[in-house]
Amino acid sequence: MSESSLQNEVAKRRTFAIISHPDAGKTTITEKVLLHGQQIQKAGTIKGKKSGQHAKSDWMQMEQERGISVTTSVMQFPYNNALVNLLDTPGHEDFSEDTYRTLTAVDSCLMVIDGAKGVEDRTIKLMEVTRLRDTPIITFMNKLDRDIRDPLELLDEVEDVLKIMCAPITWPIGSGKNFKGVYHLLKDETILYKTGQGHRIQEETIIKGLDNPELDEKLGVWADELREQIELVNGASNPFDKELFLAGELTPVFFGTALGNFGVDHMLDGLVDWAPRPQPRETDQQDSVSADNKDFSGFIFKIQANMDPRHRDRVAFLRIVSGKYEKGMKMRQVRTGKDVRISDALTFLAGDRSHVEEAYPGDIIGLHNHGTIQIGDTFTAGEDFKFSGIPNFAPELFRRIRLKDPLKQKQLLKGLVQLSEEGAVQVFRPLISNDLIVGAVGVLQFDVVVHRLRTEYKVDAVYENINVATARWVSSKDEKKLDEFRRKAEANLALDGGDNLTYIAPTMVNLSLAEERYPDIEFTHTREH
Ligand code: G4P
Repeated sequence: MSESSLQNEVAKRRTFAIISHPDAGKTTITEKVLLHGQQIQKAGTIKGKKSGQHAKSDWMQMEQERGISVTTSVMQFPYNNALVNLLDTPGHEDFSEDTYRTLTAVDSCLMVIDGAKGVEDRTIKLMEVTRLRDTPIITFMNKLDRDIRDPLELLDEVEDVLKIMCAPITWPIGSGKNFKGVYHLLKDETILYKTGQGHRIQEETIIKGLDNPELDEKLGVWADELREQIELVNGASNPFDKELFLAGELTPVFFGTALGNFGVDHMLDGLVDWAPRPQPRETDQQDSVSADNKDFSGFIFKIQANMDPRHRDRVAFLRIVSGKYEKGMKMRQVRTGKDVRISDALTFLAGDRSHVEEAYPGDIIGLHNHGTIQIGDTFTAGEDFKFSGIPNFAPELFRRIRLKDPLKQKQLLKGLVQLSEEGAVQVFRPLISNDLIVGAVGVLQFDVVVHRLRTEYKVDAVYENINVATARWVSSKDEKKLDEFRRKAEANLALDGGDNLTYIAPTMVNLSLAEERYPDIEFTHTREH
């Protein structure tokens, strides 16, 4: 293919994910985004936690039983002149390392905040992960159809807690019963809100200019209030600056209601205009790889088992970094050095699998995996470099795992190591005991692992509580110091699934003490694959 057509494909693409605290409205906004992308005729088909109707992205039997989605689905849709890839991040109870790792496969993020609640815990954690790569962030303040907190105070909180400057792009007029619409600061337009249009694309009434008398006609007393507020906002907040946005230092902020389907399109317009096209990726060699490079390359950020009960296989999700995927092409799996011909890569539309003929940088394709692909694997057109920056994240929850039938210890270990290579869970073997400790980022991962051990490895296992607060991978430039540390801190050390040395801390205080006591040892909470 010609270089310019590859560049055109690259220039069109925007690959992003949503970060938010549970219940802030991620699912609702995803649904409205897809409505605007014309992927669903009528909003309301994505989920129905309470209605019992299963979400389109619910694949596994277990997910269906619980009405939640364990998987990261990938949705692609056109919007204006762009082609948008939205990577859904597992949330709620299904929160897992996959949620974190998905954030390493996108070029920008949408942060959704509940306007009544402000910045919440999960958002803080997810933002931390996006800071590893300074991913550009767009913010949507949601639930304006309810009484929200003072908008200026919300922006202050984002700036203080998340350490990112805010540039309001739209500004709300009232909230709750008095929500009238928003004023677009860059376009100098007031867009009026109508209730009852949550399930279709809103017909918008737009009033140009703040001095327009039509504003007084339509808004009454709110018109002057708006004028005053905008003066205040212009004085008190940061103007939008695209470079600062791309550097991850400033976030454009939109206000609206996902449920009322108002403001989502303003945000999407901003996203396709400003969010970066597929970005270059660092490698273990000197050069990073640009999306315009015509040779195919990509990395695996997620492996999903049994997405479709009719196909009992695993699918590895590959983010394309450069070049073009074409059906039937050969690619090299760098870790194993094997060249494989791929003619059945998958694309996803929230659960519908179909085979792709071609795909471009920024796109996600699914590779069938019979146990040979691992998280972090690089695929290339034949070169031998590896992408960096696809980490393991230190687990936050720990259990000891015990067999019902002690004779199956070997199978248990094999299963756990494989599941940890797949990124489903992490396993730690203390140096001084025969315990097996399972660590996870989200609580549901524990159930998934027991379920899979039973169905795929035929071992019955149960969990016991264990007194572990956190884990850190340890390393040192000084081999001697590391040996000494290994001896002295043996009681707290374990090997993970890849035989990497890990410090297992019973309390956070214990961890800080260890860090103080051994200044030559590095304790890290992410580890590269
Ligand atoms: P999540 O994926 O981030 O967890 O949030 P989700 O979209 O499921 O939204 C959580 C709850 O908040 C849902 O209500 C949803 O309807 C509501 N919600 C989302 N956006 C808005 C909004 O703009 N305004 C208002 N008022 N509510 C909003 P629920 O009753 O918990 O669930 P459901 O059974 O109605 O779906």
